[in-house]
Amino acid sequence: MAQRLTLLSGLDQAFFNNSGAEANETALKLARLHGWKKGIERPLIVVMDNAFHGRTLGTLSASDGPAVRLSFHTLPGDFIKVTFGDSAALDKVAETYGARIAAVLVEPIQGEAGVQVAPAGYLQALRDLCSRRGWLLMLDEIQTGIGRTGLMFAFEHERIVPDVLTLAKGLGNGIPIGACLARKKVAQLFTPGSHGSTFGGNPLACRVGCTVLDIIEDQALLNNAERQGQRLLTALRAELGDHPNVLAIRGLGLMIGIELVSPCRDLTLIAARDFGLLINVTRGQTIRLLPPLTVNDEEVRMIVDGLVRVLSAVNSSYIAIAQLSAPPI
Ligand SMILES: Cc1ncc(COP(=O)(O)O)c(C=O)c1O
Repeated sequence: MAQRLTLLSGLDQAFFNNSGAEANETALKLARLHGWKKGIERPLIVVMDNAFHGRTLGTLSASDGPAVRLSFHTLPGDFIKVTFGDSAALDKVAETYGARIAAVLVEPIQGEAGVQVAPAGYLQALRDLCSRRGWLLMLDEIQTGIGRTGLMFAFEHERIVPDVLTLAKGLGNGIPIGACLARKKVAQLFTPGSHGSTFGGNPLACRVGCTVLDIIEDQALLNNAERQGQRLLTALRAELGDHPNVLAIRGLGLMIGIELVSPCRDLTLIAARDFGLLINVTRGQTIRLLPPLTVNDEEVRMIVDGLVRVLSAVNSSYIAIAQLSAPPI
């Protein structure tokens, strides 16, 4: 699996974990070693507002938002937060903290933040900045990787290659696995004993990962994700674009967000109970759709019809009530 993932990504070495958060912990440790090697006493890692990188204390500290962080006393002083998608904000941080920064950690599309797609050229700007400054560009593709956006990795849309890449979710399709891939020079910062995992890289998880890659290839699922994602986005925009409760519809491939005017967490229950649709709501008011990469024409139609019915069953006054009754997040 290491061979296949390195070949697909253009990176050189892989370390296997049991979850996405662990893969990101691996990346964070590599960033610190990279800084330490350069003589930075307390290296800083640049992260994005509204980011989500996991629920361990390290990855939580790199994440943003009260819902996940509140009361956990995250690690202070190790991360600098900038506005996602804003290249100028990064230049400013580079001027102020440049000498102490070791790496930038970013999701190409912020999933938990409500499917926020970085503006075109943003990843390229990040790649340039990191290369110029000697920082590691670390992409968290735990949600976007393994075909979700219509290409194997979201970074391919911008024709860049990161220094470190983390994967999980789609790689195991239900079986716990995580992977942290890196360029050789970065991977070799780890020496025997400096990192490890009892179950990471176990034969079952790796066989599952290889089978997932086989199926994606054999069934041309990248093409399917791209084509069905386009159909889904176009149909949703045509049929819900003018809906009074809909603020925006955005996404790439089979990762689509429908942002509503007000909180809609109760919609998950209504969609499942009354319309047979399993949907998810992020940041309180964005419906997030992550259909399987195998989704077909008929199922795309079902999703669109179902969502139209869910949203027309739920008028704005209902949403206003849901807003009052929703527990704080
Ligand atoms: C972008 C991103 N990073 C990290 C994680 C954490 O992965 P896991 O739940 O496997 O630890 C998630 C999970 O939702 C994620 O979406």
